[in-house]
Amino acid sequence: MLVTSKLYLEQARNKGFALPHFNYWDSNSIRAELAAAEKLNLPVILAWAQKHSAEINIYDALALGKYYGEKASVPVILHLDHGTDPDLVKWGAANGFTSVMIDASDKSFEENVATTKSIVEYAHQRGVNVEAEIGHVGTNSTEDNSNYTEVDAATAFQNETQVDSLAVSIGTSHGVYKHHGIPKLNFERLQALREALNIPLVLHGGSSSGDENLTKTVELGVTKVNIYTDLANISLKAAQEKPFENEPEMAEHQRDEIQNLAEHYFGVFKTNKYQYGD
Ligand code: 13P
Ligand code: ZN
Repeated sequence: MLVTSKLYLEQARNKGFALPHFNYWDSNSIRAELAAAEKLNLPVILAWAQKHSAEINIYDALALGKYYGEKASVPVILHLDHGTDPDLVKWGAANGFTSVMIDASDKSFEENVATTKSIVEYAHQRGVNVEAEIGHVGTNSTEDNSNYTEVDAATAFQNETQVDSLAVSIGTSHGVYKHHGIPKLNFERLQALREALNIPLVLHGGSSSGDENLTKTVELGVTKVNIYTDLANISLKAAQEKPFENEPEMAEHQRDEIQNLAEHYFGVFKTNKYQYGD
């Protein structure tokens, strides 16, 4: 069934676990990610990112997400990830995504607040929850342009926008860490943010961050962890692993590998502490 994120993230915050956010980019990936959640009987966040529009546009992604989300035996939050175009984010909130992220984290504080506020107003009228980002989780492909989240700025941002959850930057970045292996995360900053803010915190750039690191962020109060690159890479590797007899055999192997990795991350994030009915 499709659900909104609020109660799930609140329970995660109270019980000390995180919900996995898995990006999907085609029907094979969404099927595999959902299969992991259904096998473990746990809720999951399935996400389409605006930056993946070339692989799958918002209409196709929404149709897939609604179809698989509605018939799922577990709660599915259908999330619009890294929406940088406010009109697109509003369209998504009005047309079936149950959760949206407005990402104006590369803009000034004032512009980030104003843009986020307008999305919060619009989405809340439609029962959709909003995630925003303060500080900036960058990409590792060239030089990392991340900016750690400041506690005072995050507190002011929460108060001014009334946003439902907040992506914070504490040392992860998007993609694999080409230059320096497993990242060193700023757990002190995370702890300070957790104490200062009373909304769920989100960790972006989860791939290749080290399982122990990720579990520790969850123990310190992160309630949603975003994973994309590791899933895409394992799918690619699976396709290259052996000379398959035919395409369906290859696609099945890709789904198996994506599912196994997704199941692994449910463990890393301690999602099995989730209790239905709470
Ligand atoms: P990774 O690709 O590093 O896992 O980051 C995923 C993400 O943050 C999606 O929003
Ligand atoms: Zn991200």
